[in-house]
Amino acid sequence: MTRGLFISFEGIDGAGKSTHIQGVAARFRDAGRAVVLTREPGGTPLSEKLRELVLHEPMDALTEALLMFAARREHLMQVIEPALARGDVVLCDRFTDATFAYQGGGRGFDWAVLGQLESMVQQLPEGGLRQPDLTVWFDLDPAIAAERLASARVPDKFESQPADFFAAVRAGYARREAEMPQRFARINAAQTREAVWADVTRVVTPWLGKGAA
Ligand code: TYD
Repeated sequence: MTRGLFISFEGIDGAGKSTHIQGVAARFRDAGRAVVLTREPGGTPLSEKLRELVLHEPMDALTEALLMFAARREHLMQVIEPALARGDVVLCDRFTDATFAYQGGGRGFDWAVLGQLESMVQQLPEGGLRQPDLTVWFDLDPAIAAERLASARVPDKFESQPADFFAAVRAGYARREAEMPQRFARINAAQTREAVWADVTRVVTPWLGKGAA
C-alpha cells in the first residue's frame, strides 16, 4: 500500500498558484491530515541556499539544471521521503516538472539529459521513480501572467525573462503533461480567483483521505 500523498503545484510565474496552495493545506488539515508545505528550489537549509544562487546568479544551463536537481535530492532525502513514510501529505510548490518546463522548455536545455538527472535523483530503493501522485498545473497565457506580475514585486532571474520565454515554459509543461497525463490536473488559471479555487477544490477533494497512515 502506498503511504503518504505527494502533490505538486506548477505553472508559469504569475499564474497565481501560491494562494491556492495555502487553501489546499487547510482542506487537508481539516480532514485530519498532517501536512508538510514546502517548495522548490528549497525546502531544506542547504536547498534554500542553492535557491538563492540559482534564482539570482547568472550561470551555464547545465550548471543551473544540476543545482536544481542537487537541491531536489537534498529535499527528497531530508523532507519529502520521511514525510511520505509517515503517511503525511506533502504539498510542494513546484517540483521536477518545473525543471523540464523552465530549463528544458524555457532555456532549451536537452530534455533527455533532464530525464537522466531525474532518473538519478528520484530513484526509489524498491525501483521506479518518485513522482507526485497529483500535479495541479495552473495554466495561463503568458500575456496575462505578465500583466499580473507587472504590479508585483522585484522580479528574480526567471521572472524578468521576456514573454517568449514563458511561452516556451508553458509548452514545456504541456509536453510533460502529454508524457505523464495520469498525474496531471490542468486548471484554467485565467478565470477569477474564486473559479480557480472551485476547480482546485474539485481536483483535490477525492484525495483528502488517500495515503493516510
Ligand atoms: P517561485 O516558485 O515562483 O517562487 P516565488 O513565488 O517566491 O517567486 O520561484 C521559483 C522560480 O524558480 C520560478 O521562476 C521557476 C524557477 N524554477 C526553475 O527554473 N526550475 C526548477 O526546477 C524550479 C523548481 C523552479
